[in-house]
Amino acid sequence: MHSNTPLILFSFALITSSNALPYTPLAPPTPSPPSCKDLTLSITASALNWDLPPYPANATDVATLGRYLGQTVPASNFSSKPKIKVDGTWEISARYCEPSIKVKEREGEVVQLLLHGFLSNKLYWHGLDYPNPDYSTQYDYAAHATSQGYATLSIDNLGNGESSHPDPLKIVQFPLQQAIIRTIISSLRNGTLNPVNIPAKFEKVVMVGHSYGALHTRELSIVNPKGEDGGADAYILTSTALNPLGLSAIVSQATAGSASVFDTAPSSKDLPNGYMAGKLSAWETYLYPSVERGEVDEKVIEFEKREFAHTFTVGELASPKLNTTSEFEGPVLVMTGRNDVLVCSNGTIAGAAIADCGVGKEGIIAAMEKVYPRARFGVYVPDRTGHMLNFGYSAAETFGAAHMFLEENRL
Ligand SMILES: *[C@@H]1O[C@H](CO)[C@@H](O)[C@H](O)[C@H]1NC(C)=O
Ligand SMILES: *[C@@H]1O[C@H](CO)[C@@H](O)[C@H](O)[C@H]1NC(C)=O
Ligand SMILES: *[C@@H]1O[C@H](CO)[C@@H](O)[C@H](O)[C@H]1NC(C)=O
Ligand SMILES: *[C@@H]1O[C@H](CO)[C@@H](O)[C@H](O)[C@H]1NC(C)=O
Ligand SMILES: *[C@@H]1O[C@H](CO)[C@@H](O)[C@H](O)[C@H]1NC(C)=O
Repeated sequence: MHSNTPLILFSFALITSSNALPYTPLAPPTPSPPSCKDLTLSITASALNWDLPPYPANATDVATLGRYLGQTVPASNFSSKPKIKVDGTWEISARYCEPSIKVKEREGEVVQLLLHGFLSNKLYWHGLDYPNPDYSTQYDYAAHATSQGYATLSIDNLGNGESSHPDPLKIVQFPLQQAIIRTIISSLRNGTLNPVNIPAKFEKVVMVGHSYGALHTRELSIVNPKGEDGGADAYILTSTALNPLGLSAIVSQATAGSASVFDTAPSSKDLPNGYMAGKLSAWETYLYPSVERGEVDEKVIEFEKREFAHTFTVGELASPKLNTTSEFEGPVLVMTGRNDVLVCSNGTIAGAAIADCGVGKEGIIAAMEKVYPRARFGVYVPDRTGHMLNFGYSAAETFGAAHMFLEENRL
């Protein structure tokens, strides 16, 4: 058994700096938009979730959320908390993209599973479908991957996006989300991702996670280090670090309250109170680097705020995540923006205004290497880049670095 060190809320992994790059980023590519289809996967899974106390009836404010988490998420001894078995079949909304060029070793062999973070959805990996007039695939990770011969499958996490929204306390928790991810990876390997008929049994699966998705990526690499039972062959963790202090400070600022009250989307009206809505406008300062300094396109931020409302659940927040050492021996790449305040600030709102993750071996992000003592470990820290790694002007270089890493590791 692993010691069950709790990682409260989210843990985001941090990494090193661009000066210490082991890889030379590729010149920005100009891939054509990939050929993709949107799908609904029907996924059967079971897990031992945490037996969380009920959420207060009729409470929709953020102060109640803070009190609830304060009472149910003690930093000590999670292993003594009671658990409940949950199982069922859930609809997972997904987008499958085919390789846009053929690379012999990858064709029908390698797929990348892409998992978004908190207050986001699968479109994080597709440049939000933002209609960019000059450079349509500028922020599109999947387009870059398919242009290098990889297939991709991006999913909405359970309780997020267009996936099923079951009970937000008992069902939508980290352990069940993990189980769903493992089922999807196993099904990609054995060619049974019903009802998709994705025409392949993939030999290799690369799991790529952003932010909260990187916590899932990390946990999978701890629990299934041999690639067994739904483990992957390589992991890319983005916008994360050992102990992301900034996050807890910011969660309270960015949560509006229950989605049934604060989210304008009609689909949110009937959600139980344990579904929360976020204020993207409140997150904006923390998610992006400076518009004034020309580090991000203001129009992309405006587009995201206008087009997207995102739910998340109290169960996701309250369930602990493993942050122990992984025995995984394959490739692990950590990529975090140098100015990611959620990852590298000192845990206070004042400290969150600016952040410098540092560069090189001494940087916050490189420290992640110590929890991957056996892996082929790499770090990439793009300068002038914030938490939304895929939406800054450095995105093309970052995508290039990720795929250079995979290439070097024969994936
Ligand atoms: C795991 O998280 C806890 C709580 O945030 C922290 O104190 C501890 O240092 C972390 N352990 C590792 C190995 O990162
Ligand atoms: C919740 O609100 C409804 C309608 O206002 C009321 O009937 C019910 O008693 C309230 N429940 C609690 C636990 O306050
Ligand atoms: C945690 O709880 C378990 C079960 O109640 C107990 O055996 C263990 O000693 C506790 N550990 C600590 C560090 O308190
Ligand atoms: C494929 O993997 C899934 C998920 O683990 C499993 O439910 C199914 O039975 C497997 N099918 C075959 C034919 O191995
Ligand atoms: C965090 O950083 C801010 C801004 O630099 C500073 O004012 C504050 O004292 C720091 N807090 C801690 C606990 O280090």
